[in-house]
Formats: sequence, C-alpha cells, structure tokens
Amino acid sequence: MVSDTTSTAAATATGKAKAIQTRKLNLWYGSFQALFDVDIDVVQGKVTSLIGPSGCGKSTLLRSINRINERLGYVRTTGTIEVMGHNVLDPSVELTQLRRAAGMVFQRPNPLPLSIRDNLLFAYRLDRGGKGSRSDEDEVVEKALKEVLLWDQVKDRLLQKATELSLEEQQKLCIARLLPVKPSVLLMDEPCSALDPEATRAVEDLLWQLRGEYSILIVTHNMAQARRASDECIFMLMGKVVEHSATVEMFVTPKHQETADYLEGRFG
Ligand SMILES: Nc1ncnc2c1ncn2[C@@H]1O[C@H](COP(=O)(O)OP(=O)(O)OP(=O)(O)O)[C@@H](O)[C@H]1O
Ligand SMILES: [Mg+2]
Repeated sequence: MVSDTTSTAAATATGKAKAIQTRKLNLWYGSFQALFDVDIDVVQGKVTSLIGPSGCGKSTLLRSINRINERLGYVRTTGTIEVMGHNVLDPSVELTQLRRAAGMVFQRPNPLPLSIRDNLLFAYRLDRGGKGSRSDEDEVVEKALKEVLLWDQVKDRLLQKATELSLEEQQKLCIARLLPVKPSVLLMDEPCSALDPEATRAVEDLLWQLRGEYSILIVTHNMAQARRASDECIFMLMGKVVEHSATVEMFVTPKHQETADYLEGRFG
C-alpha cells in the first residue's frame, strides 16, 4: 500500500514477495523532518526506480534501508522497515550483516585502493574471518566478475589497481564486490551520474541482467533511465511518496498531477 495513492503496480504487488517494505516511516535530521509516513513495497526480483526533485528525500529513504543514515548520530527514525521480511530497525540487528544483505552503490565509484581481485574479496574475507583457499577465492572472483559482465575485460589483469579502471569498469566492480556476500537487495544512489551515456547504458543493461536474482532500488534523476531500466517507479515529493506504479503506467498515465508535472519537466 502506498497511502491512498496506491497504484496498480502496488496493488498487483499485493501477494508478491516483498524485498523491502516500509510502513509509516518518518525520519528526522535533528529537528528537520525529511520523511513523512513513507509506505513502500519493493517487489522481489524487480528494478524499482526512486524518482523526484532534488531534496525530496530519495537518498534519505535509500540510506535508511541499510541504516547508514544513523552514522550521522543526529538521525531519528520511527515506523518500520523490513528487508526480506526482517525488521531492520530491531535493536538486535547486526549492522554489518544488514549492509551485506542490502549492499549499496554510490554516485561516484569508490573502489578501495587495492587490486581488482582484493576489492572483490574484501567483504568475503571479512565475512568468513580470513582468506579462503586460492581456488575458492578464484571462483568467487570469477563468478562476481562474470555476473557484472566484466570478466572478459579484466581476467588477465586482476592484480591491477581498481582505481586505474575506467569509471564504467569501476562502477561495475563496485557492484561486483557486493555479490560475494550474497545480498538480496541492491541499493543504488544515482549510480550512473558520473558516467558518460555509453557507460550509463552499459550499467543499465547490467541492472536489467541482475534483476531476478537481486531486487534493485535505484535513485535516478534521469527519466529516460527510469523508463528504460525499471519495472516500477516510486515518485516522491517533499519527503512523501506520491505515487508508485508500473513504469509504463507512470510515464503514460500518471495518476497525480504532481507526477505528470515532474515527468514533463515542469519542476525539479
Ligand atoms: N545529513 C543531513 N543533515 C541534515 N539534513 C539533511 C542531511 N541530508 C539530507 N538532508 C535534508 O533532507 C532532505 C532530503 O535530502 P536527500 O538528500 O534525501 O534528498 P534527495 O532526494 O536525495 O536529493 P538529491 O536529488 O539532490 O540527491 C533535504 O532537505 C536535505 O537538505
Ligand atoms: Mg540524493
């Protein structure tokens, strides 16, 4: 349910397995309220775009799902957030585990200043409490790189520094390095904003390939991207969800005037 504006997509989502569900989610930075009673249902195995004008709370919502907002110290949250049916706001939740289950990709690729191989194995080794056998690790590296369609380009230079890769390759690597610890949800905050159009299309193609196995929630300002690369769209305005619809529906027959205005570029 997405408040009284519930759309067909959200309605048809009823009964479908949810990757992410929030109810009455409110969030304050100090005394400033950034999210208001946000209810979202992100369906498993789909790509869902989070769209809306600058400052409407897209990053805040995304960051509340794996609780990285809390690092700030002055953030207060009420309501519920579930990832794969688990209440992530429960005090007993182990944050490292949560951030593996809900891995995050940022605007600018941020590989560690290590080799391609060590980037891919970093979380994996932390997770298992040390290095694995050479053959196990080779397998992990190959699988993750193949999943992000990067294996052929880099298989002969796995010891090269990741920071020397092109931006497109770095961003794909930043997605790949989440995979060895088996996330169910991938949270992406404008992952293509530092990329040229060709690299953007390549990353979009990758997202489309990853859907199914992973549930992807992606923030984008690029409406063409939202339209091309997502199954469903959530439109936010001033900290509230206005509309959640199947992408085609939202672009062809938006249910709210504000959605239509935004999509037509009248604001934001
Ligand atoms: N760390 C913070 N401390 C205080 N206020 C913040 C903080 N981060 C964001 N805000 C405020 O919360 C609101 C939502 O910000 P948020 O960054 O989530 O918006 P956004 O939709 O991601 O915008 P953009 O499209 O520009 O990235 C804004 O009014 C912003 O100024
Ligand atoms: Mg943002």
